Amino acid sequence: MANSPSGESVTDRLVRVLETFTPTRTAQTAAEIGRRSGLPSSTAHRIVGELVGAGLLERDDERRVRIGIRLWELATRSSSALRLRQAALPYMERVQQRVREHTQLAILEHDEALFLERLSAPASGSNVTRIAGRLPVHASSSGLVLLAFGDRALQDRVMSGTLVRLTPSTLVDPAQLRRKLSEIRTVGHAIAPGYIEEVSTGVAVPVRDETGAVIAALSVVLPRDEEVEFALVELHRAARDIERSLGYRH
Ligand code: PHB
Repeated sequence: MANSPSGESVTDRLVRVLETFTPTRTAQTAAEIGRRSGLPSSTAHRIVGELVGAGLLERDDERRVRIGIRLWELATRSSSALRLRQAALPYMERVQQRVREHTQLAILEHDEALFLERLSAPASGSNVTRIAGRLPVHASSSGLVLLAFGDRALQDRVMSGTLVRLTPSTLVDPAQLRRKLSEIRTVGHAIAPGYIEEVSTGVAVPVRDETGAVIAALSVVLPRDEEVEFALVELHRAARDIERSLGYRH
């Protein structure tokens, strides 16, 4: 593929443009994309125009662009994430109906928890999780499950990086975090009271494949001082049913 003078491939530049979209920044002008991608303005405008032409981006009435439905369609089609999400959905619905609080499904992606699905009732409490959004592994219940049951290299990378403090309760001391991970492995679930936002407690359990490797985390977000026992029973039951429906358990 043709490289730019900076040595970047066409694909690199496309990715730079697409990565300026975030869960909270879903519409931007071409000029903003140019600035945020760090690409020369003419390059950014040209790539945006080509992507709009191909239907991968869409322009609204105010000439701002958004991720196009065609890109969503292609990205979602037969991905392993979709298979997992589809298998999980009926059991997530059951958790959501019985616990009546936010219910999420997350996988590990580049050392962060990436959320594939979130179900919420109108009366559910606060929740910072977004579908296709990410949370830090050290600070969210799902992330802690993925980290605790993840490989040693992942744990070492996370411990040696900056453990960002999001609330006074976030675990930012590596030794304390290691103790928490060991506790999670022993009890088989993670409880994160106030780690991400002071008003909520995240509760998460692992979803495993047929080898026992953890492939996802299933979680609920409860008001901070609510009892976690009932949610834990429902989460464990749902995780087993998801594993069964994926053919990982008989
Ligand atoms: C969590 O999983 O720990 C969590 C996620 C979102 C929140 C609060 C807690 O808003």
